[in-house]
Amino acid sequence: MRINNSMMTVKPYTASGSKKKQVKQMFDRISGEYDKLNHLLSAGIDIRWRKKTLAELGNVQPDAILDVATGTGDFALMLHDHWPEAMVTGLDLSPGMLEVAGKKVAKAGLENSIDLVEGDSENLPFEDNFFDLVTVGFGVRNFEHLSKGISEMQRVLKPGGKLAILEFTKPRTPVVKQLFQWYFKHLLPRIGGAISGDTAAYRYLFDSVQAFPEYEALTDIMTGAGFSKTYYKPLTFGICCIYIGEK
Ligand SMILES: C[S@@+](CC[C@H](N)C(=O)[O-])C[C@H]1O[C@@H](n2cnc3c(N)ncnc32)[C@H](O)[C@@H]1O
Repeated sequence: MRINNSMMTVKPYTASGSKKKQVKQMFDRISGEYDKLNHLLSAGIDIRWRKKTLAELGNVQPDAILDVATGTGDFALMLHDHWPEAMVTGLDLSPGMLEVAGKKVAKAGLENSIDLVEGDSENLPFEDNFFDLVTVGFGVRNFEHLSKGISEMQRVLKPGGKLAILEFTKPRTPVVKQLFQWYFKHLLPRIGGAISGDTAAYRYLFDSVQAFPEYEALTDIMTGAGFSKTYYKPLTFGICCIYIGEK
C-alpha cells in the first residue's frame, strides 16, 4: 500500500514515513540508470519537451537561473546552451543524481557556468529576489509539500522573474488515454524495474502522476503562492504540460 488516502500523498515505497526521504532514497538508487531509462522510456521526447519549455519563455534574458530538482542536470545543461552568459544553479535532494550531473558538467568543462547544490526545494538555500528565472522539470510531483515548494520558488525569484514548470499530465484524448495508461501502468514499470532493479520507482511514477494536481489545479496553487499571468500549455496529446507564471 503506497497511497496514504488521508493526505492523498503517493510515496515510492511505504505509506508511512516521510515522502521526502523515500524520494531521495529512490533517486539515489536509480541515479546510475536514470538517463538511459529516461530517454529510452520516453523515446527521447523528454528532450523536445524541455526545449519547448525554454521556447515558451520567449525573449527573457536571465543573468541568474535556478533549475530546481535538476537531477542528472539535463535541464541545467540545456539552460546553459540557451543562455550561455547566464549563471545556472542546479539544486537537487539526491546526492546520487547530483553526482551524475557533476560528471556531465565536468565533461562539458562548464564548472564555472553551472553550479550544483544539494538542497531541498521546500527550503531553498538562497536569498529572496535573487534569480531571474526558475525552472523545474518533472520535479514538482515529487515534492512532499507542493505549495511550500512553489512558494519557495516565488520567494527566490526577482519581481518580474518567471517560473517554468514541466510535468506529466494524464492524457484525455480517448484512444491515446487508454494506450498511454496501459504503457505507463503496465509496460513501463516492467522495463524500468528490469533495468534499474527498482520496480517500485516506476510504479510510483504512474501513481504519482495519477494523484498530482494538473492544469487549473496547479495554476491555482501558483496563483496562491503569489504568481501572476499563470497559464499552462499541454504537449503531445496531454502526456505532459508546461506551466508558466510571473512574480
Ligand atoms: C524525475 S527527476 C527529474 C530530473 C530533471 N529535472 C529532469 O528533467 O530529468 C526528479 C528529481 O527531483 C528531485 N527532487 C524531488 N524532491 C525534491 C525536493 N524536495 N527538493 C529538491 N529536489 C527534489 C529528485 O531527487 C530527482 O532528482
